[in-house]
Amino acid sequence: MMQPLLQVSNLRKSYGRHLSVGGISFEIAQGSCVALLGPNGAGKTTTLRMIAGLLPPSAGSIGFTGSYQGGDFRRELGYLPQSPAFYGWMSGQEYVVFAAKLAGMNRKEAEGKAKAALERVGLKAAARRRIAGYSGGMKQRLGLAQALVHRPRLLLLDEPVSALDPIGRREVMELLREIREETTIVFSTHVLHDAEEVCDEIIVMKDGLIAEQGALSVLRSKYSQPVITVRTEKNAEAIQWLNSVGAKPFILEARLNGEHAVFNVDNLKQARHTILKEAAASNIPLLQFEAGSSTLEDMFMKVVGG
Ligand SMILES: Nc1ncnc2c1ncn2[C@@H]1O[C@H](COP(=O)(O)OP(=O)(O)O)[C@@H](O)[C@H]1O
Ligand SMILES: [Mg+2]
Repeated sequence: MMQPLLQVSNLRKSYGRHLSVGGISFEIAQGSCVALLGPNGAGKTTTLRMIAGLLPPSAGSIGFTGSYQGGDFRRELGYLPQSPAFYGWMSGQEYVVFAAKLAGMNRKEAEGKAKAALERVGLKAAARRRIAGYSGGMKQRLGLAQALVHRPRLLLLDEPVSALDPIGRREVMELLREIREETTIVFSTHVLHDAEEVCDEIIVMKDGLIAEQGALSVLRSKYSQPVITVRTEKNAEAIQWLNSVGAKPFILEARLNGEHAVFNVDNLKQARHTILKEAAASNIPLLQFEAGSSTLEDMFMKVVGG
């Protein structure tokens, strides 16, 4: 395990009696890319704002390891809010210079760094144009330039692609894949696919708590269990047979819904062989038979839905 850059313990935020973040703990390793994944209202924005130092936690701690240990680590953070507000009359260049000055740079340094950041996000040609004329993807890339201009060690991005059309989304996702080679990233999303495209770790939040977390590769195998789905014609005999299959020792879990059944099994080959042989011997009118495996998407849908 690489050195943790960020350590969050028992972080809580309540508004009156409402608990937005209910006590969460996690670590972000240096150089990693972690997706904070969860449905609307899960507590992602609240968590990111607390890490960014924009919102005081009700309880818990946020620790940042590194050169500013014990000091103000906000200088080492870059933050892109969920709905960034831009001054449309400014040019991209003016906006990033403004951000660089806020990060403590003098005019000359700010201008040089802003130019580099705009080039980094592919806005060199548009740098002198008014932001009002930018596309959604360009605005989001400008937001990234603003968050990157002071070369932060940790980049916090709140739903950077959620509001974009497919083209803008593609532009920003590609950029994120490049940026992740240079700095540590935590980005929030409500789409598992977005997380899988850029990151290697996820933290799944639901109702202010962490429902699941870990490396995607580990979680994929954890949730990849053999599953057999069977559907028969709607008749009493067939349904009774499905029930009898569900009770067999090689079925780990059976979800029966009339003539439709989903069986979790430990040995897919053996279970498939046995069930098909029995179905043939008893003349069961099968309509559908599928052998496959459950996925991370199934897990996420359970978390989001249930
Ligand atoms: N300023 C606030 N006052 C009261 N409740 C809030 C405030 N901000 C967020 N919440 C509540 O906290 C919960 C988590 O919100 P949020 O962190 O924005 O979730 P997410 O970003 O995952 O959609 C929601 O139930 C939201 O309504
Ligand atoms: Mg949010």
